Amino acid sequence: MAQSPNSQSAIESILQEQRLFEPPAEFAAAATVSGADQYQALYDKAAADPAAFWAELAEQELHWFKKWDTVLDWQPPFAKWFVGGKINISYNCLDRHLDTPRRDKPALVWEGEPGDSRTLTYAELHAEVCQMANVLKDMGVAKGDRVGIYMPMVPEAAVAMLACARIGAAHTVVFGGFSSEALRDRLNDAEAKVVITADGGFRKDKAMPLKPAVDAALEGNAVPSVTNVLVVQRTKQDVAWTEGRDVWWHDVKPGASTDCAAEPMDSEDLLFILYTSGTTGKPKGVVHTTGGYNLYTHTTFKWTFDIKEDDVYWCTADVGWITGHSYIVYGPLSNGATSVMYEGAPRKSNPGCFWDVVEKYKVTIFYTAPTAIRAFLKMGDQHPNARDLTSLRILGTVGEPINPEAWMWYHKVIGGENCPIIDTWWQTETGGFMITPLPGAIATKPGSATKPFPGILADIVDAEGNPVGANEGGYLVVKHPWPSMMRTVYGDDARFRRTYWEHIPPKDGNYMYFAGDGARKDEDGYFWIMGRTDDVLNVSGHRLGTMEIESALQSHPAVAEAAVVGRKDDLKGEDVFAFVILEGTHSPSDDLKAELKQHVVKEIGAIARPGEIRFAEGLPKTRSGKIIRRFLRNLASGEELVGDATTMEDQSVLEKLRTES
Ligand code: WTA
Repeated sequence: MAQSPNSQSAIESILQEQRLFEPPAEFAAAATVSGADQYQALYDKAAADPAAFWAELAEQELHWFKKWDTVLDWQPPFAKWFVGGKINISYNCLDRHLDTPRRDKPALVWEGEPGDSRTLTYAELHAEVCQMANVLKDMGVAKGDRVGIYMPMVPEAAVAMLACARIGAAHTVVFGGFSSEALRDRLNDAEAKVVITADGGFRKDKAMPLKPAVDAALEGNAVPSVTNVLVVQRTKQDVAWTEGRDVWWHDVKPGASTDCAAEPMDSEDLLFILYTSGTTGKPKGVVHTTGGYNLYTHTTFKWTFDIKEDDVYWCTADVGWITGHSYIVYGPLSNGATSVMYEGAPRKSNPGCFWDVVEKYKVTIFYTAPTAIRAFLKMGDQHPNARDLTSLRILGTVGEPINPEAWMWYHKVIGGENCPIIDTWWQTETGGFMITPLPGAIATKPGSATKPFPGILADIVDAEGNPVGANEGGYLVVKHPWPSMMRTVYGDDARFRRTYWEHIPPKDGNYMYFAGDGARKDEDGYFWIMGRTDDVLNVSGHRLGTMEIESALQSHPAVAEAAVVGRKDDLKGEDVFAFVILEGTHSPSDDLKAELKQHVVKEIGAIARPGEIRFAEGLPKTRSGKIIRRFLRNLASGEELVGDATTMEDQSVLEKLRTES
């Protein structure tokens, strides 16, 4: 039988998955963790006594105002690290570099989308962070308060985070692409006292306003905890102004002192809350604390990117996501590295924009997401080929599984077949890299995140918590707490337990953290992530809860009921596909589809915009009323329905759904 081009390429990609790329010999020789044996020795040492392993590193790598009394207090599922220790992450990221040659080294190198740029040395960044910390204090922000940050990708976003950390206020960064409704919910949940924002930011050739969303979120005293809004001027757009509440950063900065002592924090004091999607209910406030998070992001950054003093490191994420927190701001700065920040996004008007930045700043370590890699792959090799990318020595990826084709393109066209690819599997909840190659130690396979970081006891288990065999799919779990593990869901310990610790029952009294991902381990012990097992979508590397999108749709007067599933998408990984049942008086139309898509954008943000909406008369449900999503997933992808339909209440529903458009 003749093979279609599609089945041909499917076979090819399976063959590619067998390829093994050893670290280049010269690279390995100079690496901090060098060779498979050294990795294994570190892994074994850490596995034998994780607490001792982390304690040794905490002593070596970080500054403590006071040493801890207890390394780990583990009362499942609640972990405390370095209990009794006093530390400040802003001190570790700034002050301790100031009496070293790093004082005048670029800490942040920023490139604006229109082509403007700014470099802040460690001394300059320290001064600016102190100024903002003093401004926040003047606004009445004190240790233990929460501050919302809703910013474009400008240096002040990092300054704001570090300023909060410096005075012991927890930050909650809300991605600038989220709507005012999403912002309001998060500010309310965190009871933020101040919001730090900007007039707007440049993205995809447009000045995108931000301040109006803050105004809308706060309108009518909808967030009673907020007393002030600190506004950075970026785009010079006109903004509405609330006297007494709003303050321009450029008005108060000159008068603010460049000195502000870092507050000694308890190791377990709240550092930040970052909201992430869940299957049900409102977004979860993932809680991270100070000492363990500092140590883990520091160490994973140091070893995984094999950081050297003269490296120029660039992570393309937004600070609104965990990747920006851990690997634009805290991990790099704690190591005294140079971190590049870029305001723009991949865009058709300049298909070489990323490669321009690499060339201009001679970037040596480049970290991005598969969705961006696929976008550039589509735009063509001529763009990277026209730039000098020879400064690169390590490439990284994060956010979703990377398909072998994109991996190979990254390897060949961007890396010149010379740069190890670091496929980092981790989550908002884990704080830092969990499964990742160490570039001088672990041979890579396209599409595999390879092996756990030393100290991470990851495994694949079945629903009862029993380890599965090689190459058998199962649930990805972690069997021992690690320093940057999320501590709880903000204000909701029960939800923390339910979401992460109760799906897989404890085995012999040992609790397992369940990440929500399916995976398999091959015969060499390499991990292959298969994606989410819950109803969370992964659109362009961003996690979106089906529940939130469904609620957004249902808040529109024409909608009676909605169900959202993911559909495979070449570029985004997954696209949002919505089934909508209309209220009796409304009839289906293309205009209504467009209106509903726009409604989701307004309620949540552009990243959640459904790619397709299908009107339906009914949804497949079990007798207990649960939507059977796997059928909807099949329908959305135009596949045959798989699985048992006998639990369905009304069999005719499926027939109708198939014929509807
Ligand atoms: C997915 C982003 C495969 C996964 C740091 C995880 C990945 C979710 C990878 C977390 C990877 C992240 N390979 N899948 N290298 N990295 N994921 O919280 O499903 O935004 O659970 O954190 O993204 O997304 P989050």
